[in-house]
Amino acid sequence: RILILDFGSQVTQLIARRVREAHVYCEVHANDVSAEFIREFNPKGIILSGSHMSAYEESNDQVSPAVFEAGVPVLGICYGMQTMAQQLGGRVEGSNKREFGYAEVRAHNHTKLLEGIEDFRTAEGHGMLKVWMSHGDKVTVLPPGFSVMCSTPSCPIAGMCDESRGYYAVQFHPEVTHTVKGREIIERFVLSICGAKPDWVMSNYIAEAVESIKAQVGDEEVILGLSGGVDSSVAAALIHRAIGKNLTCVFVDNGLLRKNEREQVRETFEKNMGLKLIVVDAVDRFMNALAGVTDPEQKRKIIGREFVEIFQEEASKLTAAKWLAQGTIYPDVIESAGAKTKKAKTIKSHHNVGGLPDTLHLKLLEPLRSLFKDEVRELGVELGLPAEMVYRHPFPGPGLGVRILGEVKREYADLLREADAIFIEELRAAGLYDKVSQAFVVFLPVKSVGVMGDGRTYDYVVSLRCVETSDFMTAHWSHLPYELLGRVSNRIINEVKGINRVVYDVSGKPPATIEWE
Ligand code: XMP
Repeated sequence: RILILDFGSQVTQLIARRVREAHVYCEVHANDVSAEFIREFNPKGIILSGSHMSAYEESNDQVSPAVFEAGVPVLGICYGMQTMAQQLGGRVEGSNKREFGYAEVRAHNHTKLLEGIEDFRTAEGHGMLKVWMSHGDKVTVLPPGFSVMCSTPSCPIAGMCDESRGYYAVQFHPEVTHTVKGREIIERFVLSICGAKPDWVMSNYIAEAVESIKAQVGDEEVILGLSGGVDSSVAAALIHRAIGKNLTCVFVDNGLLRKNEREQVRETFEKNMGLKLIVVDAVDRFMNALAGVTDPEQKRKIIGREFVEIFQEEASKLTAAKWLAQGTIYPDVIESAGAKTKKAKTIKSHHNVGGLPDTLHLKLLEPLRSLFKDEVRELGVELGLPAEMVYRHPFPGPGLGVRILGEVKREYADLLREADAIFIEELRAAGLYDKVSQAFVVFLPVKSVGVMGDGRTYDYVVSLRCVETSDFMTAHWSHLPYELLGRVSNRIINEVKGINRVVYDVSGKPPATIEWE
């Protein structure tokens, strides 16, 4: 396994994803873990991430010397390279020239890391890499034993290595997709240089996870809040595989679910899998709690609170339950560790089924804690969950509650559910569902005039929303074919009585957000 030490870069998670894609297990930890931790982790190799800071200004942010005493290869990326240079006796200097974005780097590709990896050759026959750079500071003096591995005109030491010790460092970011050969470089490092075995595959993982769940819970009972989303569904399937009837899942119908969602959950888990499922019909309760409330954050809070209360009521009936299972995945783990130090501004308070308070006094079981989303999906397929469920677009915790602008009413939710189902059905029929990142319909509680047959209509408006994104932090609206938009509009207006106008949202994020509330 590979240890990734994080200096707080936005893209550290991507390093871990690239390593996992090479089928090697890795974990991300804070840069200042102790020497003892590193020894116990016993990594095959260590990767030092980038940072938003400067090595030059905050030279105290380093790694334990144990990193360089572990006797394993080390790869420094961006700030990680500068730290490596500084800690091993080189020099880093601040610079007022920032290199940011696309760059072409000359690769001195006789090194084990870069040999045979290049995007093109210059007229002089130099191998070149197309990379993504983002830095101000740079290494100006190599540490003893190092030589130059890559360079650009403005950054003569854009990469360095000491092959005798297995130390490599690059100033660019191989983990981002803009660095064309980045994936190959990381794979080369973990497989060839560290000699890690590519044995991290989901089919192996199931057997291991099942054993560890059994060992952890023994014959005690487990309870899990099933939302129908990917994470809780896969967690349920995995735990069920391990302990069968000792798992009970609670599914709450809050009246804000997508069309047929409740029936599908019943079908998949209860009927096909034989899982113990408690379905709580709480539609009235949610609608009453939301009556008259128009503020988006207030709505989120109410929906979150009601869910927690209902779940607790159900949990307290299951007196034998000793464990609370959750579908927490690795990005949640890294994010909440990072959130302690980073001060991000709250745009929306996301509530997930995961966020249950600690009043149940149950032990936590989180079997997906070490997995990335794509691994969770792969696992779900291996466990036999339907592909449509596993590859479904994300659906927010508050559900249709944040897709009905302003006050939530049962009537609005019913109209929205139908319209949304038509949009998704047509998107699938056009073969575009899996090509876009998220698509849905938003209900606007305003009425406009229309004409149908000989009559005047005065009905509601809905907006279609469809975006493409890789991380949901930024997004583009999808350029859906006009014919498809036309078909969806016709169908919604004809089939959903109460809607007479359909519009398409052409706003990017930023400045808009993906959801409308
Ligand atoms: P925004 O609207 O912030 O959405 O651009 C980014 C992603 O987050 C989802 N989202 C939520 N998920 N609870 C959730 O669990 C929420 O309150 C929530 N609000 C937005 C949204 O669907 C998109 O995938």
